[in-house]
Amino acid sequence: MHWYEDEDFWSEFSETMFSGRRRSETAETVATSPLLAFPPGARVLDLCCGPGVYLVPLARRGYTVTGVDLSPVMLERARAVCAEAGADVRLVHADMLEHVEPESYDVVLNVFTSFGYFDDPRDNLRVLHNAHDSLVPGGQLLIDVMGKEVLAGWIGRPQVVELEGGAYVVQRDTVLDDWSRLRTDWTLVRDGTARESSITSFLYSGTELRALFEQVGFTDVECFGDFDGAPYDQHARRLIVRGTRPV
Ligand SMILES: C[S@@+](CC[C@H](N)C(=O)[O-])C[C@H]1O[C@@H](n2cnc3c(N)ncnc32)[C@H](O)[C@@H]1O
Repeated sequence: MHWYEDEDFWSEFSETMFSGRRRSETAETVATSPLLAFPPGARVLDLCCGPGVYLVPLARRGYTVTGVDLSPVMLERARAVCAEAGADVRLVHADMLEHVEPESYDVVLNVFTSFGYFDDPRDNLRVLHNAHDSLVPGGQLLIDVMGKEVLAGWIGRPQVVELEGGAYVVQRDTVLDDWSRLRTDWTLVRDGTARESSITSFLYSGTELRALFEQVGFTDVECFGDFDGAPYDQHARRLIVRGTRPV
């Protein structure tokens, strides 16, 4: 089993990744981001939607939203969150390696470092091809990851995230293969017991991810440093790459 297929990993570390605080910050981001301003009713695919942090805010912004994820547990949570919010969102259980709906979307989003999971670089490229083929001509793909340059600014210090009830998560990062990949070791300590997990994914610089977009045929490829549309420079917090399927 690959790390990304481990249901327990996504569930047990979800308080860190999908916290209530992140949900409210994301709602604000989605409501205001110029990068997420599409025409009313735009068909938006949230690829690797997880428990739906983006789904409800995207639906509230007036889009027709589909979420795809490999994890039935995450999809069930997404379903509950959307139902509670009264958001009409279509949810699909699928692997991003295989998922293609030809010319069905105006926008494909892949956010919060949900790209670069496959050990073989050709598989990651295939995800870009799938997204390209799922877009209508003129449609946009937007990928949001932790860029290599951003990571270089703070990597090396273990991070501790405190959770409710005295639990905490320690996160340690290790750069692999000459800055090609990153392994993150997570330790969740709760009630005196520790649970360990590791994830390994590809790292991309702005130039590298842009080149992959162009290799697949996207045009007008641009990099941004945050959802407010800031440039990808020394102040960047994320690496956001956006490209257009040519008409
Ligand atoms: C870091 S989480 C991000 C979730 C969501 N985009 C967010 O912003 O909270 C990555 C998600 O990708 C999903 N995932 C992992 N491998 C996948 C695959 N091969 N195909 C589809 N989804 C996958 C996981 O189940 C998880 O929900």
